[in-house]
Amino acid sequence: MVSPEASSVRQAIAKKYREVARSPRGLFKYQTGEASALALGYSPVRIAAVPYAARSRFVEVGNPVALGPIGKDEHVLDLGCGAGFDAFVEAQLVGPAGRVCGVDLRPEMLAVADAARIEAAFPQVEFREAAVEALPFGDALFDVALSNGVLNLIPEKPAALREVFHVLKPGGWLQVCKWGWSGRSRRRTRLPGPTESPAPLRGRSSSPCSKLPVS
Ligand SMILES: C[S@@+](CC[C@H](N)C(=O)[O-])C[C@H]1O[C@@H](n2cnc3c(N)ncnc32)[C@H](O)[C@@H]1O
Repeated sequence: MVSPEASSVRQAIAKKYREVARSPRGLFKYQTGEASALALGYSPVRIAAVPYAARSRFVEVGNPVALGPIGKDEHVLDLGCGAGFDAFVEAQLVGPAGRVCGVDLRPEMLAVADAARIEAAFPQVEFREAAVEALPFGDALFDVALSNGVLNLIPEKPAALREVFHVLKPGGWLQVCKWGWSGRSRRRTRLPGPTESPAPLRGRSSSPCSKLPVS
C-alpha cells in the first residue's frame, strides 16, 4: 500500500524522468552527462565504455562506485538505475561472470537502459521495473547495493532500507550517495533492518556519500 505522500512523489518522479528519458538537458540545476561523471571522479576509461545513451542521461549527485571495492564476479544491485550509467560502470568491475541488476520505477528510463545494454553487449546486466520499496528478489542475493540519488527521492525510507537489507548478503555493503533523510541528514547512525542491528554509517560528514556494512 503506497501512502498518499509516496504516491504524489512518484507522480512527480514519473513526470521528471519521462522527460529525462528523452534528454536531461535543462532539467537540472547541476551539471549532467559525461562532464558531470568526470567531475565526480569516475574513471575516464570506464566512462568511455558506457553506452552513449546512458552516458548522456547521467543525472547523478555522487559516485557511489568509489565508496568501496566492487570485485570480479560479484552480484550488484543498482537502486533507481535510470538509464543505466552506474550499472554499466559496475558491470565493467564485476566482469562477464558477475551480475548487475538495475531496478527503476520508470519504464521510459529502463527502455533506454535496456536498448543500450543490448547494443553494447553487456550480458551480465539486467534491468527490471520495480520500486526499491518492493524489490522483486529473494533474500541474501547481492554483495553490494548502490544508490546514486535515489534513496533521497523515496519518502518511505524505512521500507526501502528493509527491502535492501533483505536482498543483501550478510557481510554485504550498501553504498549511498545522498540520503536526504528528513531533508537534511546525510548520515544516520541507526537503520531499520530485518535483524535490527544498528550500524554507524562510515564516511566523512561533509561527504554526501556513505558506505554501510550489513551485519
Ligand atoms: C538520479 S536518477 C539515478 C540515475 C542512475 N543511478 C544512473 O546511473 O544514471 C534517479 C532514478 O531513481 C528512480 N526512482 C525514483 N524513486 C524510485 C523508487 N522508489 N524505486 C525505484 N526507482 C526510483 C527514478 O525513476 C530515476 O530514474
